[in-house]
Amino acid sequence: MGPLPLCVLLPVTVLAVVLAVAAEENAVEDEYTWPQWKVPLVRKRRTVPLSSPKFSARPQSELSGTCGIKCQLRVPAASLEDLEQFLSYETVYENGTRTYTSVSVQGLSEVTAWSRNVSSSSRHKREVYGTDTRFTISDKQYSTKYPFSTSVKISTGCSGVLVSPRHVLTAAHCIHDGKDYLDGVQKLRVGILKEKSRRGKGGKGRGGRGKGRRRKGDKDKEEVQEKEENDGKGDRKGKGKGRKSRSRRSAEPDKPSFRWTRVKQTQVPKGWFKGVGDRLAADYDYAVLELKKAPKVKHMDLGVIPSLKKVPAGRIHFSGFDDDRPGNLVYRFCSVSEESNDLLYQYCDAKPGSSGSGVYIRLKEPGKKKWKRKIIGVFSGHQWVDVNGDGAQQDYNVAVRITPLKYAQICYWVHGDSSECHVA
Ligand SMILES: *[C@@H]1O[C@H](CO)[C@@H](O)[C@H](O)[C@H]1NC(C)=O
Ligand SMILES: *[C@@H]1O[C@H](CO)[C@@H](O)[C@H](O)[C@H]1NC(C)=O
Repeated sequence: MGPLPLCVLLPVTVLAVVLAVAAEENAVEDEYTWPQWKVPLVRKRRTVPLSSPKFSARPQSELSGTCGIKCQLRVPAASLEDLEQFLSYETVYENGTRTYTSVSVQGLSEVTAWSRNVSSSSRHKREVYGTDTRFTISDKQYSTKYPFSTSVKISTGCSGVLVSPRHVLTAAHCIHDGKDYLDGVQKLRVGILKEKSRRGKGGKGRGGRGKGRRRKGDKDKEEVQEKEENDGKGDRKGKGKGRKSRSRRSAEPDKPSFRWTRVKQTQVPKGWFKGVGDRLAADYDYAVLELKKAPKVKHMDLGVIPSLKKVPAGRIHFSGFDDDRPGNLVYRFCSVSEESNDLLYQYCDAKPGSSGSGVYIRLKEPGKKKWKRKIIGVFSGHQWVDVNGDGAQQDYNVAVRITPLKYAQICYWVHGDSSECHVA
């Protein structure tokens, strides 16, 4: 393609997004529903103060030397004591102090039952990164509506996802390098895409959200997409008569802007720390941030899914803020190539900056007709993985799966009370 003027390209991009999203939504007709899992309980044992961290680590754009699925097959299964240690965690507060909390785990048999349903590392042909299949969601009509609106930017340069009214899930390496906290963590902030009222319309749906409940928000969004898709087709056939306003709007995408919120406290599992998780550290590349103020944005629930291979058209989706498209929300979906209990390997196109994005899938809830999206993993990023444990490195895109145990831990962090976390 030659250098087309921007005003031609942009409407095409918007249309491509709409079609891609719509195609994806129509792809799964199956009645496969969200399974319900009893999850173990993660309980606090005790919390002790630690010396304040130095906050001296530098952000890493790529992780290397992680022990991947194959390598992990040779690691002995973690004992209950190991798991309790990996799930114990540090909390850093905005005043720079830090505590360590040890936890106990109950009901581990639930996990054993769960892991039997995980297809163990079945291999698919490797998908080449070839053409870039990412979509920039530049139109605020989408980027500030569910599900895209759940994606947030982390001030250390990563992405994250709202998993409660005031909690953000991200990758641990966006916070801590395994030895120390990143230098930006003491003043950690989270950016939520701002809706501009320039067109005077965008804010409408949001205003009604409190009353209208979440279902309605979803419906609105789907209606908007359907409408957009039809407009697009009309444009192609009808030569865009009387569609001035639409193309003008598309040709001038709003410059993305963020509303920044301070982080009150940050929790990172011990399994991520050097000398604790060792070859399993990649499994613990997640962290939870609690915001000082709840942004009035709908969050996405967490869920667990044992095997994506068993989900019809089981594609994963995620949106984040890739470095090469500054400030823009970038959406993509792809299928998973390999999976283990704790990791998902895929070749979704992604650039640094999208690390920490919430990986979600859509399924129906039993007895319901509507789609329900749930976060089932955290995008860790591009990694150089020691596949055979012999030092030879291979590149993958890796996401950390939310297992029942991690669900229990994150749920406990979010609610501060594990009694609300019996079922995923
Ligand atoms: C820092 O904040 C934490 C949590 O709010 C609080 O418990 C602790 O006492 C504070 N420490 C100092 C030195 O202010
Ligand atoms: C898990 O596997 C068992 C036995 O293979 C099967 O009966 C059960 O339905 C599976 N559960 C889910 C939720 O897939």
